[in-house]
Amino acid sequence: MSASGGSIAIIGAGSVGSAVAYSLLLRQVVADIVLVDINHELCQAQVNDLSDATFLSNVRIRQGSVQDAQNADIIIITAGAKQKPGDTRLNLIDRNYKVLKSILQSLQPIRNDSILLIVANPVDVLTLFAQRLSGLAKNQVLGSGTLLDSIRLTRILASKLEVADTSIHAFVIGEHGDSQCVAWSTATVHGTPLLKVLPLTDNEREEIATTTRKKAEAIIKVKGFTSYGVAAVTSRICEAIIFDHRQVLPLSHWQQDLDCCLSLPAVLGRDGIISSFPLHLDEEEQSFLSESAKGLRKVIEEYKEDL
Ligand SMILES: NC(=O)c1ccc[n+]([C@@H]2O[C@H](COP(=O)([O-])OP(=O)(O)OC[C@H]3O[C@@H](n4cnc5c(N)ncnc54)[C@H](O)[C@@H]3O)[C@@H](O)[C@H]2O)c1
Repeated sequence: MSASGGSIAIIGAGSVGSAVAYSLLLRQVVADIVLVDINHELCQAQVNDLSDATFLSNVRIRQGSVQDAQNADIIIITAGAKQKPGDTRLNLIDRNYKVLKSILQSLQPIRNDSILLIVANPVDVLTLFAQRLSGLAKNQVLGSGTLLDSIRLTRILASKLEVADTSIHAFVIGEHGDSQCVAWSTATVHGTPLLKVLPLTDNEREEIATTTRKKAEAIIKVKGFTSYGVAAVTSRICEAIIFDHRQVLPLSHWQQDLDCCLSLPAVLGRDGIISSFPLHLDEEEQSFLSESAKGLRKVIEEYKEDL
């Protein structure tokens, strides 16, 4: 792949932001990457370190201000507090709402065809807040959502079946967090229903769903953060946007019926979310999804005066 000539700004140059930059750089998604952080010294050190990798591609990377990010094709928000062991993602909302709000104020006016990609947690709630506060159309504001969880799920299933990950289509839907659920009824292996080729008991399904849901927690317990998976996923999302791939991915986006943002499959292209892709869930999955939305709406409700 060769760089498109476009630009991507990453706001937040910590573990996730710098790994996202590294992934974008190696994949040559755009020609210019701008890193922004309130910690200028850290940001410059990340840029200096990353610039040692640019010999592999022709990508330019530099430190910039929030204003430099205004004109990027994609603005990625990775700024904010991260989970400590034992934290849920929703515990981060107070701190990260304030961070997001101040960034979005400084970003004005955002180029009217930019795509705003939220990665900071709790990603679903922050995606909705960014839709309300950014001034961009809803389809231009999305969150990385459960794409990472779906990749984790796919990896487990692929290793059980001893097939390539790309042969499996399986989605985790709902919140990128504790109320997420696996859409087992829609999972396929190259078009064949997954549960026909891999008959799993209820317990086995529950175990796989729990391992998927708790994977980040297990990593954070030992190394303090996760970065590589989310970076690869973010880079995949950016590629689909910049090159107008029209790929169907589980991403956090506006759900009219559920009155919140959460992940369901969507068609992703240069304008952001092109459309929601219909998923025919069974009754139990539908009810899990409704519960997930209910939990998110409860959190959003607490901020309604402020939005
Ligand atoms: N969506 C996902 O799948 C996923 C996966 C992993 C982590 N995350 C989330 O990403 C976020 C970042 O995690 P991390 O490990 O990189 O944390 P980190 O502490 O390493 O980095 C966060 C950075 O944000 C910067 N920052 C804070 N306020 C800022 C502001 N107003 N403007 C600019 N920069 C600001 C900090 O200086 C810091 O460098 C967390 O919310 C974490 O939960 C999301």
